[in-house]
Amino acid sequence: MTTPEPTTTRDAWATRAGFILAAVGSAVGLGNMWRFSYVAAEGGGAAFVILYVVFVTFIGVPLMTSEFIVGRLSQESPVVAVRRLGGSGWAPLGWLFVVCGFGILSYYSVIAGWTMRYAVDAVRNAIAIDTEAYFGSVSTGWPAIFTHLAFMAMTVGIVVAGVKRGLERTALILMPLLFLMLLCLAGWAATLSGSGAGYGYYLKPQLGELVDPDIIVLAAGQAFFSLSLGMGALMTYASYLRSRENLGREAGTVAAADFGVAFVAGLVVFPIVFHFGLGETIGLGGAISDNTVGTLFMALPTGLHSLGGLGNVVISAFFIMLFVAAITSAISLLEVVVAAVIDGWRWTRTKATIVFGTLIAIGGLPSAFSIDFLVAADKFVGNFLLIVGGFFTSLLVGYRLLPQADAELADGLDSVAARRTWAYLVRYLAPVVLLIVMILMVPVVWDAIKPVIGLTG
Ligand code: TRP
Repeated sequence: MTTPEPTTTRDAWATRAGFILAAVGSAVGLGNMWRFSYVAAEGGGAAFVILYVVFVTFIGVPLMTSEFIVGRLSQESPVVAVRRLGGSGWAPLGWLFVVCGFGILSYYSVIAGWTMRYAVDAVRNAIAIDTEAYFGSVSTGWPAIFTHLAFMAMTVGIVVAGVKRGLERTALILMPLLFLMLLCLAGWAATLSGSGAGYGYYLKPQLGELVDPDIIVLAAGQAFFSLSLGMGALMTYASYLRSRENLGREAGTVAAADFGVAFVAGLVVFPIVFHFGLGETIGLGGAISDNTVGTLFMALPTGLHSLGGLGNVVISAFFIMLFVAAITSAISLLEVVVAAVIDGWRWTRTKATIVFGTLIAIGGLPSAFSIDFLVAADKFVGNFLLIVGGFFTSLLVGYRLLPQADAELADGLDSVAARRTWAYLVRYLAPVVLLIVMILMVPVVWDAIKPVIGLTG
C-alpha cells in the first residue's frame, strides 16, 4: 500500500485509497459496534443518533480536516507536529494526546479481549444460551485479564514486527466483509417480530430529548471516539501524504464510512433487543449498568442462538472481523504513544513499543477487574479528554495556524467558499460548542467516577 519515496526516508502513501482506507481502519472499530450500541441504549436511541450525526457533520468533519492539515503540513508525528507548528507553549497538547492514547488503549484492549473470547467460544458452541450470565462470566476477572493481555501482546507484536502494512491489507478485505455481513444481519433482523418497535426506539426521536444535555454530551463524546478524533491519531496518517488530496473531501469520506458501519450495527442490535425482550436486561434508556455496556455482546449471541449451528458460525465470523477492526484501531492508538517516545527520548521502536505496551497492559488491569472502572475510564479519557484535545486542536488550527492551514487546505481544495466555511466552523463553532460540551460533561464524568472511588453505595 505504501512505497518509500526515493528522495527522503519518510514513507508516503502510494494511492489516495491507501490513505483513506488506513484512516477508516483507525476509525472503524469497537467504537462503531460495541460503543455505539451501548451508548444508543443508554442515551435513549433516536435522539442520540440524530445529535450524533449533527456532531459528526458540523464538528467532526471540520476537525478531522484540521488534523489532516496539521499532519500533512508538518510531515511529523502528532506530538512533534503540534510543538513545532504551534511553538513550545503548545507542547502540553501533545502530552494530552499521549495520555489519551495510553488511557483509551488500556481499556479498549479489555473489550477487544471479549471479542476474541466470543469468537473462540462461538465455534466451540460454548456461549451459554443465558447470554447475560455468559457475558458476566467472561467480561471481568481472570478470563477478562487473560484475553486482555493476549490482545495487548498481539498489538505490541504487530507494531514491533512491522507487519502493520500486511495487517492493513488484511483489514482492507475483512472490513468490507464485516460491513456486508452487518447488512445481511440487518436484513435478517428486519424479519423478526418486534423489529418495528426496535426501529422506533432507534429512529423515531422524542423531540424533547434533542435538547437533553445528557444526550448531547453522549453524542459529542461518541462522535470523537468513533472518528478517532481529539488525540492526533489521524495526523499520523495524513503526515504520509504528499499528493494534493482534497483533505476536506477525505475527511467527509472517512466520517461517512465510519457512520455507515455504526448505523447498520444499530439496525442489527435494536430489532434483536426488542424481539427477544432484552430491553430490561440491558437497562434500555435508563441508568447505565454492567449489562448496558454489554449490549452488543448480549444481543448478538441471543439473536443468533435462535439459528442453531449456523448462528454459531455467524457469531464467530462476526467477532473475528470485529477483532480485526479492533486491532487496526488499537495500532493507531499505540502508534501515537510510541511515536512520541521515539521522537522525544530517542528510543528504538522495539524498546518503546514493548515498554509502553507493557505499561498500557498493566494500566488496563483495573478495567478488566471492574466494569465500573472501565466505564469511568471510557467517560473520562474516551469522552472528556478527547473533547478537551479537540477543543485545543481547533484553537491551534483556527487561530495560531490559520493562514498556513488555509494554504495547506487550498492544496487540493480550490473552492474559497468551502475553505471559508471550514475556517468558520473551526474558529467559532467548534470551540464554543466544545467548551459547552466540556462543562456539561463534568457531572456525567463525575457520576461515572463516583462508584469507582467508592462514593456511592
Ligand atoms: N475510533 C476507534 C473505534 O471506534 C477507536 C480509536 C482508534 C480512537 N484510534 C483512536 C479513538 C484515536 C480516539 C482517538 O473503535
